Amino acid sequence: MRTLIAETAGKAGETVVLKGWVHTRRDHGKLIFIDLRDRSGIVQLVFFPNKEGDNSAYELAGSLRSEWVIEVEGKISKRPDSMVNADILTGGVEIQAEKLVVLSESNTPPFPLDTDGREIGEETRMTYRYLDLRRERLTNNIRNRSKIIKFFRDFLMGLDFIEIETPSLSKSTPEGARDYLIPSRLYPGSFYALPQSPQQYKQLLMVAGMERYFQIARCFRDEDTRGDRQPEFTQLDIEMSFVEREDVMDLVEEMLIKLVSTQYPEKRIQQVPFPRMSYKEAMDKYGSDRPDIREDKNDPNLLAFCWVIDFPFFEKTEEGGWTFTHNPFSAPKPEFMGDLMEKRNIGEILTTQYDIVLNGFEVGGGSIRNHKSEALKKVLDIMGFTEERIMANFGHMVEALDFGAPPHGGIAPGVDRLVMILQNEPNIREVIAFPKTGDGRDLMMKAPSEVSPEQLKELHVKIVDK
Ligand code: AMO
Repeated sequence: MRTLIAETAGKAGETVVLKGWVHTRRDHGKLIFIDLRDRSGIVQLVFFPNKEGDNSAYELAGSLRSEWVIEVEGKISKRPDSMVNADILTGGVEIQAEKLVVLSESNTPPFPLDTDGREIGEETRMTYRYLDLRRERLTNNIRNRSKIIKFFRDFLMGLDFIEIETPSLSKSTPEGARDYLIPSRLYPGSFYALPQSPQQYKQLLMVAGMERYFQIARCFRDEDTRGDRQPEFTQLDIEMSFVEREDVMDLVEEMLIKLVSTQYPEKRIQQVPFPRMSYKEAMDKYGSDRPDIREDKNDPNLLAFCWVIDFPFFEKTEEGGWTFTHNPFSAPKPEFMGDLMEKRNIGEILTTQYDIVLNGFEVGGGSIRNHKSEALKKVLDIMGFTEERIMANFGHMVEALDFGAPPHGGIAPGVDRLVMILQNEPNIREVIAFPKTGDGRDLMMKAPSEVSPEQLKELHVKIVDK
């Protein structure tokens, strides 16, 4: 039976079988030391020459190289006090290896895996991401990301939310960013779009009477990549019925405070309740709508959350028309509903939008929605949409709102950005298992890639020479 490396610390005197990767090998005189690594940790193996008996394990150990996969049987012995390595969990023991089996050899890795990897070029790391992920820093990021997601699930399910999956093959609607399109084989010239967020589905789920929805949702936006922006990223998408702005903000605030106190007790939240400022205050005081309000920017354990509220609903386009600042589905603050419906003082209308900001990053945003179709249509009308265009793009929403839509609102924290900050990483690529590079490629899979003429033909797609 296999024993995990972390368990060896408390099993001195026992003979165990370990399985894992050769982390490093050092030869000292006649002794061979191997640091063996599995998902639980690292432990030192010692191979002794055996002049009288079976020497095969020792001889084989001499051929081991980094990243080979082995199975070892040996006795756990306590190290003398002077040899204890206090830095690792298993530093008080070592394994006196008796039997060795090589399960898998490895080519020499293109870069070292026993460092934090920050010294290695991104291109190589991304090409061999499955090796890069073996390093401790990355393994920790991925593991803690999983814990954070479990925390969100448990927290929300404890409050009677249900997790609902929504489609990835959806409809192209003008929602802010550029869509990724998927040509339809069965309907020549028609396209699905990958959703920029599950916004419309989650509102339709409110119309469906679900009342409390969440989803760990993948979102797709064909935008230029940055340190905090990926073409596909993950949101904790939430929507609730019969709520006002305060209800959604309170829920998210409670969730984030509990996340930090249970999963990151070493971190300190600068101010609770989270301070709130209007968009105008944020711009006047910090020149940014995602202000970094940390008292001490050198403290890696300081978390300065704040809410930014009271955004203008509309802004002028370059062509002199109006567009929404955040989301066409948002409701104005109640006192501006009259102005919206009368198309008065358009530039002065404030939205119910709330953004949550952490250490200068926008880590979430949401709003109360227009649950009356007239108000949604008015927003689109102000943006210059004709009735025909409104119905072609958003007819499904307009129609649904006329079947007894409850007042509703929601929010979507960005999971990648939150994990990045909690893990003290400088960009979200470090907390995503298989991210795209800065220029939008997957170097490991070599995507995007060309496809065969047959595939194109089937999809009714012709490539036009550039
Ligand atoms: P929004 O567009 O503000 O809102 O997105 C919500 C949060 O998602 C994160 N985010 C991103 N993270 C990584 N890469 C990206 N390209 C990226 N874009 C956004 C941010 C952001 O705050 N449907 C609304 C939510 C709602 O109203 O409920 C929405 O998508 O942390």
